[in-house]
Amino acid sequence: MKGSVIKSAVVVIVSCLLMPVFLLAGQDAHRHEHSKKQSPSGKNPLVEEMLILDNAFREVVSAVSLGDGARVSSALESMHGTMEKTHEGVHSGAIKIPRNSDRLDDFVRMDKEFHGNLEALALAARLNDQQAMLGLTKKLLEGCVACHRTFRK
Ligand code: HEC
Repeated sequence: MKGSVIKSAVVVIVSCLLMPVFLLAGQDAHRHEHSKKQSPSGKNPLVEEMLILDNAFREVVSAVSLGDGARVSSALESMHGTMEKTHEGVHSGAIKIPRNSDRLDDFVRMDKEFHGNLEALALAARLNDQQAMLGLTKKLLEGCVACHRTFRK
């Protein structure tokens, strides 16, 4: 009972984490169909989504390094269709945090902060505020590293 409650909570949290990711992932989503890590018994949705996030973030870093807010924005806008589909995928799979899975509060806090920074980046990109885009992209990278140091094996 307690386990399933925690699992549901994680699914909800990860869904929130991933929503803006699918705004970003655009054309790269298809390529992942062929390259994603997948066990014979089924997919690991968290890993799949992390791989999409990974690709999306590279595009962001590239666009921010060139000061190209329009490129970040168009990547965000191109994603609306795929969001729903991936959302379902996240809900259907079992999500397991590989390390410190008892520290759900910290996971939630890091996820919220990351999500907030992504939204702020979307706004900065719309405004083509290059200084804000740079600062937020640095914060996002710190968010990746902090969460992995704690929750990834
Ligand atoms: C709130 C937590 C959190 C944040 C933020 C986060 N990740 Fe992850 N990420 C994880 C966890 C947990 C795993 C390990 C998943 C597993 O192995 O089951 C992971 C795994 C990965 C992997 C490895 C996937 C594989 O093949 O095993 C990549 C790549 C990755 N993340 C990229 C990123 C990038 C890039 C960012 C930031 C732009 C990011 N992540 C932000 C939690 C996070």
